[in-house]
Amino acid sequence: MFDPVQWLKQSKILGLPTETVYGLAGRADCPDAVALIYQLKNRPSHNPLIVHYAGIQEALADGVFKAQGRRVAEALWPGPLTVLVPKSSTSKVTARAHCNLPCLAMRVPCHPVAQDILRQAGPLAAPSANPSGRLSPTCADHVKKGFQDQVPVVEGGACEVGLESTILDMRQLPFRILRPGFFTLEFLQKKFPDIPFEEGGAEVETPGASLAHYAPHKPLSLNVQPPFPKDMGILGFGALSMPWPETQFVQLSWKQDILEAARNLFAGLHYLDASPHCQRIGVVSLPAYSVGKAIQDRLGKAASPPAETVSEGDLGN
Ligand code: TXA
Ligand code: MG
Repeated sequence: MFDPVQWLKQSKILGLPTETVYGLAGRADCPDAVALIYQLKNRPSHNPLIVHYAGIQEALADGVFKAQGRRVAEALWPGPLTVLVPKSSTSKVTARAHCNLPCLAMRVPCHPVAQDILRQAGPLAAPSANPSGRLSPTCADHVKKGFQDQVPVVEGGACEVGLESTILDMRQLPFRILRPGFFTLEFLQKKFPDIPFEEGGAEVETPGASLAHYAPHKPLSLNVQPPFPKDMGILGFGALSMPWPETQFVQLSWKQDILEAARNLFAGLHYLDASPHCQRIGVVSLPAYSVGKAIQDRLGKAASPPAETVSEGDLGN
């Protein structure tokens, strides 16, 4: 039987479930495993990888945390938060994983399968388990299809959050959200009223943020309204004002629950992208509150530039 822990210890890589999206994981202290990740994803060599830890103490030991940063990490880990901090001098993470940058992006996922594997074989470097520039995977099948079964995938069910982690730059105050996710600016401000937070600046701080991302193969239009073109597959949010063929429709959330919509977003895009019943994809207008901001961020990147113009040189995460 396939043993993911032994596999990782042999410097090999695998698909790993997390609560956000599936990761393509290899040992963070092993240059060969990290090289395999870049190769299989066709990821630009200047785009660093997030390092995943089994526990908070191990993560804290690998980075240099401000007192406020430590508080945030201790309150929100394990969970869908990645923090950017200077790498500690004792860290064994290979420089290849973070592209020789002085800082590490680190996270402690709360998915029980990830936790179990990390406890035995961690820390693990893991970008999202999609070919660079393509849609992130939220189930094992997405990973298998994305890499044409070239890599084993540990089954962990559908991801509960469904969007990549919030990335928080904690190197200096105010702490800055570089990638929106489940933990929003409003949430952080409310939970830690004495710590200053802000948004933005991702293009400079995280190399991956400026690259083309998350693109389906089919063209994607946002905020579509009826009447829809006949060849369009629709991602809906609540009841549509006109009937639409079931084969061309995915409901993100009947009850217009934004967390449920986030959970279903990538699976819906994957489904319509592969469907023979539509040639393009439209998403109805979605609210921007809560995790809605992160949804808008991912959809904006998926729709622009159009999928056809994504070239190999500017592929993202
Ligand atoms: O939820 C997630 O974060 C998922 C799961 C698998 O953990 N991972 C993920 O990784 O989304 P990826 O590689 O698709 O996106 C990571 C982003 C990239 O934009 C990358 O440039 C940035 O984090 N990043 C990673 N390490 C960094 C570092 N040392 N300095 C600056 N940016 C970094
Ligand atoms: Mg990614």
